[in-house]
Amino acid sequence: MIKTEHLSDSVTLYLGDCRDVLPTLARADAIVTDPPFCVGFKYASHDDRPEAYEAHGGYGAWLMDRLERAERLCGPGAPVFVWQAAPNFRRFHEWFPRDWRVFCAAKNFVQMRPTPMQWCFDPILVWWTPGEKGWSAGTATRDFHIANTAPVIATPENIEKGHPCPRPLDQVVHIVEQWCKPGAVILDPFMGSGTTGLAAVKMGRGFVGIESEPKYFDIAARRITDELARPNLFAARPARAEPLELQFDATGS
Ligand SMILES: C[S@@+](CC[C@H](N)C(=O)[O-])C[C@H]1O[C@@H](n2cnc3c(N)ncnc32)[C@H](O)[C@@H]1O
Repeated sequence: MIKTEHLSDSVTLYLGDCRDVLPTLARADAIVTDPPFCVGFKYASHDDRPEAYEAHGGYGAWLMDRLERAERLCGPGAPVFVWQAAPNFRRFHEWFPRDWRVFCAAKNFVQMRPTPMQWCFDPILVWWTPGEKGWSAGTATRDFHIANTAPVIATPENIEKGHPCPRPLDQVVHIVEQWCKPGAVILDPFMGSGTTGLAAVKMGRGFVGIESEPKYFDIAARRITDELARPNLFAARPARAEPLELQFDATGS
C-alpha cells in the first residue's frame, strides 16, 4: 500500500517501494538520490548485503531498474546524481551503464578525527538523461565539495536520533543550487530522512520523495514540514545564470 503526503503545493512524499511508486508519477526535472550501497549496511528492514540483491540480478540491476523508472519521468538533459560507496569503485562501470562522472563529496578534517577514517570522500556519480545538457548556476567546473560530515556520522546517538546515514545538508544544498534549475521538481526515490527534500525546500525547488520504511518516512516528513514553516532566505536569492569562465595564462602554469 502506498501512502501519500502532500506537504505543500510543490512537495509530495510517498511511503512505499520506489519501484511501485515511480510508474504512478507524472514528471520530474532532476534526480538527486542516495540509495543503499550494497555494503551490508543496517537499515530498519532493507537488506543491503550483496547476496540479498542476487535474486534481482545483482545490485547494479536492482538499482538501475529503479533509476531507469525515475529517468523516464524526466525530460532531456536532466541531471542524475547518485551517491555511492568508495570501496565499490571498481564495480561502477559494471553497475552503471551510463557516461557517468564522479562528483567528489569530500569529508572535512578526516585526519584529525579521533576515529580513523579510510575514505576521505564519498563518490557521487552524475550523468544526464539524453539530450542537450541543461543548466548549471556557474560552477560546473568545480567537481568537488567539502561538507562537514561530523554531525551526521552514524554514532549510536545519531542512530537513536533517527536515520543511520543521513547526508550532510550543505553537500546536498550545493548540488541542488548548482545543477537543479530554480522551480525544478527534484526526485529522490530513496529519501531516507529527507535531506534532499530539505535542500530542495531551502533552495526553492519542488520535491518528490519516496521511502519504503515508515519510521524514516516519518522523520523526513517532520524535517521537511519544519523547513517549510521556516522563513526562507535562500529561495529569494537570484541564481547566477552565466557560467564562470576559467582564466589560463599563456604559459599554461
Ligand atoms: C542511504 S539511505 C538515504 C539517506 C538519505 N540521503 C538521508 O539523508 O537520510 C537509503 C534509503 O533508501 C531506503 N530504501 C531502500 N530500498 C528502497 C526502495 N525500494 N524504495 C524506497 N526506499 C528504499 C532505505 O530505507 C533508506 O532509508
